[in-house]
Amino acid sequence: MAGKVTKWVQPDPKRQNWYWPTDALRERAWVSDAKVYEQAAADPPSFWAQRAEEIVWFKKWTKAYEEEPYAFRWFVGGKLNLSYNSLDRHVEAGKGGKVALIWEPEPPDEPNRIFTYKELLDEVARFAGALKALGVRKGDRVGIYLPMIPEAVIAMQAVVRIGAVHTVVFSAFSPEALRDRLLDCGAKILITADGYFRRGKLIPLKPQADQALAGTQVQKVIVVRRAGNEIPLTPGRDVWYHEVLRGQSPVCQPEEMDAEDLAFILYTSGTTGKPKGAMHTTGGYAVQVYATCKWDFNLHDDDVHWCTADVGWITGHSYLNYGPLMNGVATVVFEGTPDFPDFGRMWAVIAKHRVTVYYTAPTAIRMHVKWGEEWPKKYDLSSLRVLGTVGEPINEEAWLWYFEHIGGGRCPIIDTWWQTETGATCVQALPGIGPFIPTVAGRPFPGIQAKIVDAGGTPVKTGEGGYLVLEPPFPPALLRGLYGDPEKYKGTYFAEFGPKLYFTRDGARMDEMGNIRITGRVDDVMNVAGHRLATAEVEDALSQHPLVSEVAVVSKPDEVKGEVPVAFVLLKKGVQPSPDLQKELIKTVDQHIGPTARPAAIYFAEDVPKTRSGKIMRRVLKALVRGDPLGDISTLRNPESVEELKAVVGYKG
Ligand code: WT7
Repeated sequence: MAGKVTKWVQPDPKRQNWYWPTDALRERAWVSDAKVYEQAAADPPSFWAQRAEEIVWFKKWTKAYEEEPYAFRWFVGGKLNLSYNSLDRHVEAGKGGKVALIWEPEPPDEPNRIFTYKELLDEVARFAGALKALGVRKGDRVGIYLPMIPEAVIAMQAVVRIGAVHTVVFSAFSPEALRDRLLDCGAKILITADGYFRRGKLIPLKPQADQALAGTQVQKVIVVRRAGNEIPLTPGRDVWYHEVLRGQSPVCQPEEMDAEDLAFILYTSGTTGKPKGAMHTTGGYAVQVYATCKWDFNLHDDDVHWCTADVGWITGHSYLNYGPLMNGVATVVFEGTPDFPDFGRMWAVIAKHRVTVYYTAPTAIRMHVKWGEEWPKKYDLSSLRVLGTVGEPINEEAWLWYFEHIGGGRCPIIDTWWQTETGATCVQALPGIGPFIPTVAGRPFPGIQAKIVDAGGTPVKTGEGGYLVLEPPFPPALLRGLYGDPEKYKGTYFAEFGPKLYFTRDGARMDEMGNIRITGRVDDVMNVAGHRLATAEVEDALSQHPLVSEVAVVSKPDEVKGEVPVAFVLLKKGVQPSPDLQKELIKTVDQHIGPTARPAAIYFAEDVPKTRSGKIMRRVLKALVRGDPLGDISTLRNPESVEELKAVVGYKG
């Protein structure tokens, strides 16, 4: 049916696989002159203050930025509310009848639920009133453990509306992972659902939540009816979402939040076994998320924005919920998976809702590459204007496939580098400026100061590899702390280079134009199918099995998932390895973290290589599973362990 299809990009005449915006894209773009980079760099606080003028403040800030060692503040004295900026402002501007949220349930024959801005605002306000009635006050932490249903967005919006602090936990995380997070942040309330659908099967969720609650401070559990499965409700503690909404007014004044008031906590994997709670505040987060969502994806009123990330991740927070809604566009929430009922589901959804912006992870693209281009070919994808990727470095093959078979060779690919900690994108190419280059993310967003340094903190030469760091003025949405652990905040991000350089823990290189290629983490954090995971977390889970005496986990490259964990397990004296034990260990990981963390292989070993001081040499294990040269192993305490392991893993290095 496709009518006239616009070409948004053109190839560079001289450089293979480089693309630039066409005039059509430049004309439509919010920014199309690369001068914006220099202008912003000359005075980042004024640049961000200009962006901040585009959202609504109850009270204007007195100073755009101030800092001292290990602390910085944006929009000092400013008052605003995230939910007001996501919803009320559009309704007040006469856009209440515009579509805000399109829900695509997993069962393909189940009807969509569509909310206009007015409808979404009413529901959020009613739920906000219900939360207040249940005793939730400004600053209280509220746990959210919900599948991909509209209520996930509604709950987050309602929580920030009343000035409470949400902690969203990915619904596929185990009860134990949920409990750890609820305990750490001291949540009084949990919002969950009866269940949801996954690959045609009903997955109960409430029983998981129940298991998590023992020993926590949670007093009330609000349960959304999604799947209709029978679930037990604990009297006095559990209430149905639809019942607490009853009688609530569709008007609930948004709380006036200080720019530096805490908006939410989101847990992420560090290098230790225990996830840490990244603290995001209201003003800087709102401004950077709003501005990057607008410029990265060149959002206009008529856009239908689909970010495929789960709301349990920062990508879902910033580019499924707050970013698109603050920009007044329609956001798509999809409950299902790319392979159900068949490999064409994502493309069917794009065609059905005329999606214009599609934002996903390289791991997902590599899956589609495997399934073949005949799937997207069946659907009309001509509505697409901008494609985005996030979460891990994208390989050239996946980039070109995405560009050709999804974007029809017409759409820019915006490869956005950022982290849970940065809250919003920091490095990318902008649609109206370009260039779009496979495996290269792009330049730091205007107003963001990034550079690449060596171990001593000195900038490396153009083209040389080094560590990616951020310089002051720090990005407005950058985390302000780790919940309950100020020392760890300093130690994790500012130990290597001091308080004047935020260490991203990523390796990178930069070309003459300032384009940055991210090479990957330089610490013991893996990226498994776009999910961040510390090797220490998997070790911690496995070591809790009663028959395990010691364990070492390393990552190994994987064609589809990017990286996967591989475990070396030493059993207690007298315990025999067996396939059953292997299965049990996998179950242990499921229980403590969730299926995303399952090791791709578990090797039982008699011993693992150690230094003289007894530290496990993960470097050697990594080389063993990757088939890389082992390097110098002469300083090991037990070099003979390496010979044994070569046989165990089938090393042919
Ligand atoms: C780590 C952060 C930010 C949302 C999703 C992940 C890696 C992220 C890219 C990219 C290369 C990337 C980095 C980063 N990463 N985006 N475009 N190119 N690597 O958030 O779970 O906090 O993980 O993901 O290694 O440090 P996260």
